[in-house]
Amino acid sequence: MNTRWQEAPTSALPLAYFAFAHVGLAAAFVVLLARPELPGGVFYQPRVIALVHLVTLVWLSGSILGAFHIVAPLALRLPLQVRAADWAWFAAFVMGAAGMISHFWLATYDGMAWSAGLVVGAIAHVANGAFAGLRRAPVPWPIKLHVYLAFVNVLAAALLGILIGLGRSRGFLPASPLRMTYAHAHLAAIGWAVMMVVGLAYRLIPMMVPAAMPAGRSLALSAIFMQTGVIIVVCSLVHDSRWLTAGALAILAGIVSFVVQIARCLSQRRPRPPALPRRDWSVWQAHAAIAWLVVAAALGMTLTFEVIDDARLPLIWWYGIAGLVGFLAQMVAAMQGRLVPLYAWYRATEARGGTLPVESANGLPSAALARIVFLCWTIGVPSLAWGLASQLRPVVVLAAVALLGGVATGGLHIWTMCRRAQAT
Ligand code: HEM
Repeated sequence: MNTRWQEAPTSALPLAYFAFAHVGLAAAFVVLLARPELPGGVFYQPRVIALVHLVTLVWLSGSILGAFHIVAPLALRLPLQVRAADWAWFAAFVMGAAGMISHFWLATYDGMAWSAGLVVGAIAHVANGAFAGLRRAPVPWPIKLHVYLAFVNVLAAALLGILIGLGRSRGFLPASPLRMTYAHAHLAAIGWAVMMVVGLAYRLIPMMVPAAMPAGRSLALSAIFMQTGVIIVVCSLVHDSRWLTAGALAILAGIVSFVVQIARCLSQRRPRPPALPRRDWSVWQAHAAIAWLVVAAALGMTLTFEVIDDARLPLIWWYGIAGLVGFLAQMVAAMQGRLVPLYAWYRATEARGGTLPVESANGLPSAALARIVFLCWTIGVPSLAWGLASQLRPVVVLAAVALLGGVATGGLHIWTMCRRAQAT
């Protein structure tokens, strides 16, 4: 790795974001465990929307913001110096997200919109640092394009969310709130989370496998197709237009282009570092997440066509859980399993004044803990989709227990890796 340790991610800020993300996701599953009847088959209700934002805002977005402070210096060659202002904006993110979720729970949308202002400020602060540094960063421009678009999309999605919130309490929305909510959800989930995961994966997957770094203008295709698709989907959802299928196909084309690029890069593998475990459970989990992406894409395409009314609601539950929990939330868990060892290794190096720790970064993960995390998510995700879609409370309880186990073990795994790095 050619990053100088002085430029490496050595602030505790990523861990603070990860800790908050773990607390938020655990809270969502504790609520489901205590109140499995809460969704009652209806996803569009304030308390479910509060739970959805524990997953999407606290877990997904919080983890992405934390991971960005690790990935930027390591994979994008963009050192992000953490100063007091970064901690202040982290505190704003925590307060804003907590405020939003409590207000969703109470269905007080004005309060939700004010709290969202803090979240927008925190995301804009990280975006500002990223935009300033990316101009000079020596990485191919198509990778930068994914990151730029991801930040623009999340800010646009957040502003749309604030507009929906204010519109619901004051009654000025130009279209049906449900349609606007679908537009917001797709802009945030695909335009932000998927776009960022895809852009960073181009750099992270070859670093971790290891394999040759993909390069060339064709890497931009995934960003261009997905962005075009997201814009068409958002406009079609708001205006109830027939272009929806075309937008969904463009997003699919972006995902296919990404998969083709990664397959090409994996065909040019480099020798494995000796300390890398034979069976890497975090990588298996990333594969499981990609399998859920395929499921979500297939269900999403199906939903763009007329589906008989009785089947539509369960299908939407399966689609939402496959995309948000099976793919995105699980990919974040997998990504933490591979990023934290690198981060812990750099922090231990800094703590020693530049002397390398005895244990290499690849020797830090615990295969036993990573396997438990993998198994918990493997049981939890399909049970959650099945339980919510079919309104089977015991299955929802099983899912909540499994996923809570996965989140708790994931948190323990992160702590273990950091401790191990400091001790060697
Ligand atoms: C500051 C940021 C955000 C704000 C202000 C916000 C606001 C909102 C609002 C107002 C709704 C509709 C509530 C209703 O009509 O009753 C909503 C729904 C939704 N949002 Fe967000 N949101 C934000 C971030 C995100 C992010 C980052 C994601 C995904 C990565 C996301 C995914 C969703 C989803 C999936 C729904 C639909 C939930 C359901 O119907 O059960 N949101 N959001």
